[in-house]
Amino acid sequence: MCGIIGCAGHEGDTVPVLLNGLARLEYRGYDSTGLAVSNSDIHVVKREGELDELVETVESEIEVDGVAGVGHTRWSTHGKPSDANAHPHTDCENRVAVVHNGIIENYQSLRDDLRSLGHEFESNTDTEVIPHLVGHYLDAGSSPKAAFHRAVEKLEGSYAIAAVFESRKEVMATRQDSSLVLGVGDEATYVASDMTALIERTDSVIHLDDGEFAFLSPDGYTIIDEDGERQSKAQTTIEWDVEEITKGHHDHYMIKEIYEQSAALRECLRNRSTTDRLISLDTFDDYHSVDRVHLVACGTSYHAALFGAQMLRERGVSAQAFLASEYAMTPAPVQDGTLVVGVTQSGETADTLAALRAADERGARTLALTNVVGSSAARECDEALYIRSGPEISVAATKTFASQLVTLTLFALHSSSTESNHETRRLVSALDELPGQIQRLFDTTTAGEIASRLADGSGYFFIGRGLQYPVALEGALKMKEITYEHAEGFAAGELKHGPLALVTDETPVFVSAVGDNETVRKTVANAEEVKARGAPLVAITDGTSSIERLADEVLRVPSTSRELAPVLVNVQYQLLAYHTARHLGRKIDKPRNLAKSVTVE
Ligand code: F6R
Repeated sequence: MCGIIGCAGHEGDTVPVLLNGLARLEYRGYDSTGLAVSNSDIHVVKREGELDELVETVESEIEVDGVAGVGHTRWSTHGKPSDANAHPHTDCENRVAVVHNGIIENYQSLRDDLRSLGHEFESNTDTEVIPHLVGHYLDAGSSPKAAFHRAVEKLEGSYAIAAVFESRKEVMATRQDSSLVLGVGDEATYVASDMTALIERTDSVIHLDDGEFAFLSPDGYTIIDEDGERQSKAQTTIEWDVEEITKGHHDHYMIKEIYEQSAALRECLRNRSTTDRLISLDTFDDYHSVDRVHLVACGTSYHAALFGAQMLRERGVSAQAFLASEYAMTPAPVQDGTLVVGVTQSGETADTLAALRAADERGARTLALTNVVGSSAARECDEALYIRSGPEISVAATKTFASQLVTLTLFALHSSSTESNHETRRLVSALDELPGQIQRLFDTTTAGEIASRLADGSGYFFIGRGLQYPVALEGALKMKEITYEHAEGFAAGELKHGPLALVTDETPVFVSAVGDNETVRKTVANAEEVKARGAPLVAITDGTSSIERLADEVLRVPSTSRELAPVLVNVQYQLLAYHTARHLGRKIDKPRNLAKSVTVE
């Protein structure tokens, strides 16, 4: 949701580190930003709006400098975006400044108590109780470290917090159910919501665990656990490159990441199948005693989970996909042999983590299928399987979805007890060809032209059957997310049971019909129903079915196996959404109201 960063370094460098880190974290939230640096006193600058506003203000205020500082980019939960609600927040006497990601659930009662003690609040946020609590303990004679610790003990909810104190060259930080990473540099120490904010400064990181406190100074750090015991934690090396988190020559991260899909899939497949076409899943090779699989996920990852469940079921494994937010409330019964897979790009989505925890409490074996090594899901689950996409910055998930589909395909092949070697060989050689096919699709696609011809539609529908159904949902999600136009995905056979009432000559319908089999022929029949209602029909096809005779527009994909065709269709849907949003002048990488990492339930 929000992004936080802290730095204990040296004067002249701290503010650039904070601003650069905020630029990298902006995808987590972008309705207001702020920073605080500590010298003999604390200097806070904060602004409603995107980071440029803050940069402009900081540049005009030359005295903003210090050894220790914290910064924040916000996605509002409590209180609308405004200068006052932006972080950092301070106590009444400006002795401490705090940035926070998460939700303080008991903030109202803490606020009432603090008010009755004379504290005055300047914002509507839940966060502001934290500096006031710290201030309260400072007044009671606690040292800054003890006051910070005692204040945090009072909090209920989820949080990653970083704070600076007046006249101290130190950043204090802690977390509960919200990610926080320490970065260890030569002459500075850093803390951030995720490692993309740190890559340009250091490749050496430490993942903080729930309840731990970190105290950062320019020459090092101390970590203690909730009982005050000093912890010595191993540093890990970040394997992502700086180039991967910049836009390069592209106008948006989204299009860069769409184009990165061939490379991402090559990486995803590397060393995971052998010459005799056997699947090997490095970190998850032990499929013993799994009788049924529950896949829990949100948004785009849920669409990947739907695909994964179907792939498993087709191979004789009992499998079902669940929306994580629902599963967390009412988990499906777990028996011996149930594996619960959290499909989550970031590994930090609160709903998915809650579902995985609910499963764990019921005794299920848990697996994180994620992109981020060291993420909460990866660390909390029994096992982790990585999709290896590299960093994804644009809020709209693109390349990670493709990598999820391919990893789930490998997973289904690996777990299947019924798959014959011939079937495995067939799919593995189709997988091998997939990265090259995506590259060829980029060379020939006409998605840009079609998008500009259809950009005045009053709504967009996406239909598909079988393994193309999750992709119809995903095509619609991508379209609505970045164009702000109404878009819905349907199982093609379901259209006539209600949604057909919405179809007019102003609602383009995108239909995926790749290959020529019974399922595709039924999809073509559904497309006829749409056509008869006058809707512009866009066919996504490899040219083998009869759909083209109906279609007003055609987007071609290379021929591949039935199972992998959804990956190629989806690339065309991503391009359609991207070009439509461009045509409409939307903010593509940071769409209205959204944030990439959704760390609240
Ligand atoms: C859509 C999108 C979201 C995420 C969802 C889950 O483009 O990115 O729908 O897929 O918030 O996120 P992860 O996969 O990080 O758990």
